[in-house]
Amino acid sequence: MIKLVFLFAALVASAIGSPAANLTASCTVTSYSAIATAVSSCTTLTISGITVPAETTLTLSLKSGTKLTMEGTWTWKYAEWKGPLLKITRSDVTVTGSGLTLNGQGADYWDGKGDSGIKKPKFMTIATTGGSTFSDINLLNCPHQCISISSASDITLENFVIDVSDGDDNGGHDTDGFDVSGSTGITVKNSVVKNQDDCVAVNQGSDLVFSNLTCSGGHDLSLSVGQSTSNGSANKVSNVTFSDCTVTKSANGIHVKTQLNIPNGLLLKNTFSGITKYGINVQEDYAYGSSTGSPKGNIPITNLVLNEVTGSMSGGSSSMAVYILCGTDGCSDWKWSGVSVTNAKKDSSCNFTPTGYIDYK
Ligand SMILES: *[C@@H]1O[C@H](CO)[C@@H](O)[C@H](O)[C@H]1NC(C)=O
Ligand SMILES: *[C@@H]1O[C@H](CO)[C@@H](O)[C@H](O)[C@H]1NC(C)=O
Ligand SMILES: *[C@@H]1O[C@H](CO)[C@@H](O)[C@H](O)[C@H]1NC(C)=O
Ligand SMILES: *[C@@H]1O[C@H](CO)[C@@H](O)[C@H](O)[C@H]1NC(C)=O
Repeated sequence: MIKLVFLFAALVASAIGSPAANLTASCTVTSYSAIATAVSSCTTLTISGITVPAETTLTLSLKSGTKLTMEGTWTWKYAEWKGPLLKITRSDVTVTGSGLTLNGQGADYWDGKGDSGIKKPKFMTIATTGGSTFSDINLLNCPHQCISISSASDITLENFVIDVSDGDDNGGHDTDGFDVSGSTGITVKNSVVKNQDDCVAVNQGSDLVFSNLTCSGGHDLSLSVGQSTSNGSANKVSNVTFSDCTVTKSANGIHVKTQLNIPNGLLLKNTFSGITKYGINVQEDYAYGSSTGSPKGNIPITNLVLNEVTGSMSGGSSSMAVYILCGTDGCSDWKWSGVSVTNAKKDSSCNFTPTGYIDYK
């Protein structure tokens, strides 16, 4: 009986005593196991140099108003699974990298097959709302898609460097930079993407701004609409602006491809160079990863504005300045001005003529 009472007293003492004495220290964490407690109790928080266990999403469900500093090199133990490796949620958070490298160790996964090879984890999901900002975040060697902005609203991402250039000669594939779905009020600016797939791919969302992005090695700036076969309203993109973006050493400059229902696009002041396939490519014939050659007007593209979009092609045998393939009644109200594309080899091919279109070769 006495023993029991004694034990009980000791437990109460340690439960009350230790967290209170250590509150400051525990808001700076350097090990994976300390993260959960810190995230649930701290609103100013530093996480530094951690290693995350295999097959684990490090989910940071931050308290509203949290200022999180991510520091040092973060790594994840190898596992063949779908990820994501990191997910950040909740509202009104400020996330800043300080000497940060999120190292996905992509070389361990790359097999040149992307989606269809061994299972590879997606890297980072951002699902925050309410005025959240993310800055100075470096992602190195994403195994698969790099950043998914998903069910997010009212957020700004800036000074990101996504560097998957090691994958160029080592089997990197499907390493999209920024994928956006189900999100509204998103700004991504002043960032660099070196990868092997879309620099930006917008699948669904509204009020999106991409500015001063430097993209190289991959596919293009892309609006890819129509991922849902059952839900028309999930196939809508509207009010998207790309401005002052530069695309080099890539397949396309700008690529709009639709599979099912309604984007409104606005493209401003973008430049591209060394483009091997198409400078500007708009196609309404996309079906699950490739062109069918039979366009449909089921996802109309209205109000596609290009203003001061300039670029030069690689001059290679398959380079074409502008390719437009619209389905019946699929395209309307496009206004282009100051669009210039040089150094293409093949003649442009368009079955729809935007207002302001000139012959681009
Ligand atoms: C505070 O926590 C750290 C690490 O969790 C521990 O090493 C240290 O002894 C604790 N200090 C006190 C006063 O409890
Ligand atoms: C564009 O982004 C780069 C970082 O990628 C930055 O150094 C540069 O200052 C930005 N330019 C403007 C005009 O903000
Ligand atoms: C388009 O998006 C921008 C950026 O989010 C926003 O400021 C603007 O109000 C939106 N325009 C319309 C017509 O919704
Ligand atoms: C269809 O998509 C819209 C927009 O994403 C979503 O709000 C709605 O819940 C979806 N409906 C179904 C039945 O999934």
